[in-house]
Amino acid sequence: MRDTPDASSSRQQDTRVILEQHRPHAAVLSAPSTSAISLTVNGVRHHLDVEDRWTLVELLRDQLDLTGTKVGCDRSECGSCTVLLNGQPVYACSQLAVWADGAEVQTVEGLAHDGQLTPLQQAFIDHNAPQCGFCTPGQLMTATALLNVVPRPDAEQVQHALVGNLCRCANYNAIVEAVVAAGAYQGGAA
Ligand code: FES
Ligand code: FES
Repeated sequence: MRDTPDASSSRQQDTRVILEQHRPHAAVLSAPSTSAISLTVNGVRHHLDVEDRWTLVELLRDQLDLTGTKVGCDRSECGSCTVLLNGQPVYACSQLAVWADGAEVQTVEGLAHDGQLTPLQQAFIDHNAPQCGFCTPGQLMTATALLNVVPRPDAEQVQHALVGNLCRCANYNAIVEAVVAAGAYQGGAA
């Protein structure tokens, strides 16, 4: 038997009330939680409100405009996003920005000073280490961390250090040669 118009209208109204009661609050959906953090990036202190879901590479690229750090895989596989966090190379795609609270971060933009390349950057150019260039910032940062603790690494030490930085064009020999040469440049024996 079909509803009378009044019964149908009343049921629709009940349904609307139920849906309204169970609708998630709009404010909850539109306001992700944030945290206030302070960190130093390339020697510059920043005080920021960051969304708790942001990764460090999102903070660097999207908020601080430091786009030298690249995103290749966005899942801890390629090393393109490598930066130094308190001197240690990390995948910035796999670190939350809030974890960098109080930290010192160095990106590829923090290598050269006043247009003067570091010996490592110069060695990359001299040895044709960059091909696509997309993976190069991450390789430079990992190699910088190595050279900070091993000033004159041999090829095996360089290979071991760079194992987490992929080069899809397989220019590995030139990259390793460049880092070894950078050690020699730093020692003034190039
Ligand atoms: S983008 Fe982070 S490891 Fe590939
Ligand atoms: S130089 Fe970037 S993938 Fe090889």
